Amino acid sequence: MDIEQYLKGREERVETESKKIRDFLVFDTFNYIPEKPLMREEVGPLIDAILRYKKTFIPNNICILGSSGCGKTSILKFLQKLFEKEYDLSFKYVNVRSYNTSFKILAYLLDMQARGLSLSELENSFEQKFKDKTVLVLDEIDMLSPKDPRKEILYFSNRSKSNVMLILLSNNPRFLREVDETCRSSLQMEVTYFKPYNAIQIFEILKQRAEKGMVDYDEGMLRQVAAITAQQTNSDVRMAIKTLFYCATETDLKVEDAFERARRDIIRELIQGLNDRMILILQAIQEEKEGYARSVYQRYRKISLDKGEDPFSYTHFCTALSYLQASGLILISQVKVNRTYTNRITHLFEPEMLNVVLQLRFA
Ligand SMILES: Nc1ncnc2c1ncn2[C@@H]1O[C@H](COP(=O)(O)OP(=O)(O)OP(=O)(O)O)[C@@H](O)[C@H]1O
Ligand SMILES: [Mg+2]
Repeated sequence: MDIEQYLKGREERVETESKKIRDFLVFDTFNYIPEKPLMREEVGPLIDAILRYKKTFIPNNICILGSSGCGKTSILKFLQKLFEKEYDLSFKYVNVRSYNTSFKILAYLLDMQARGLSLSELENSFEQKFKDKTVLVLDEIDMLSPKDPRKEILYFSNRSKSNVMLILLSNNPRFLREVDETCRSSLQMEVTYFKPYNAIQIFEILKQRAEKGMVDYDEGMLRQVAAITAQQTNSDVRMAIKTLFYCATETDLKVEDAFERARRDIIRELIQGLNDRMILILQAIQEEKEGYARSVYQRYRKISLDKGEDPFSYTHFCTALSYLQASGLILISQVKVNRTYTNRITHLFEPEMLNVVLQLRFA
């Protein structure tokens, strides 16, 4: 096929898609904030805690855990909009994946070029700038870099004169184990789990999207998408919405095939978004067929050194594994070898997806 033919084909496709889709933005699973997110029972106590903070000035720090796609980010972004607009309470949202040290987070919040400044100087500037009550949402908090072992940002609100309530979000329960008990009690952190949605809840979310985003839709298809998502993922709504988009734009496509395509898209995006060290861990997992954690670590170290990369320590390697598991890229299971239990790692993605990224980054 030549370029012109390709262009023509794509033009026709975009044309057909736009006849079926009323609003494409509704299918943007990263940026779209639902007008009325589906209520889940765990949101009640969260709202109560924020309201109490607004009234009393006493921060109730909260950590919300829950698997990928269970609505942590979108619900917090929705609450931010609501509280800022209707309740005059200021929120600051930071994605720790993008700003992965206490220093970078503060510099981002202050909108400053912070080079040359110390952390305490940044903290002072924060106190000057944010004198009023502030809810600070740190999303994907488990992405805080090992280069920031003291996790200063978490304790900043204790030290600081500014009045900050922390809300931490993570899909990785291991994060809490790393913040030890003493620290947790000094933060007086409450932990909330967002349970995976059931198929009926996923259906309700899909129905909202379909009503807003599609010219017309079939409820049976929505139920099928909800059911397959609940069965085959940890109720990752992102997967459901992508599947719905494929079903909506290609009417001949079976739900199973649309789901498979969505799954591959999401895995590809996840792998592409990983940093180099994570990519090298995946390479080691892929190459070390037996999959025992220690041998995978040895292989990872070797690959890293060969490529001139500084490898993680074994502890940080284990933290990285738990992140990769929470993202759905690997599975860690316990197996008995010579009377002792050991962790075995299996990858859940097709090798060519990783190979493409390896080629691009390390060839
Ligand atoms: N209660 C809800 N109502 C409407 N849409 C929802 C709801 N919960 C999740 N969604 C939609 O599902 C998708 C995934 O949600 P979100 O990004 O908030 O998940 P997450 O828990 O932050 O996942 P991760 O741990 O991967 O960051 C988003 O497009 C979001 O709009
Ligand atoms: Mg999120």
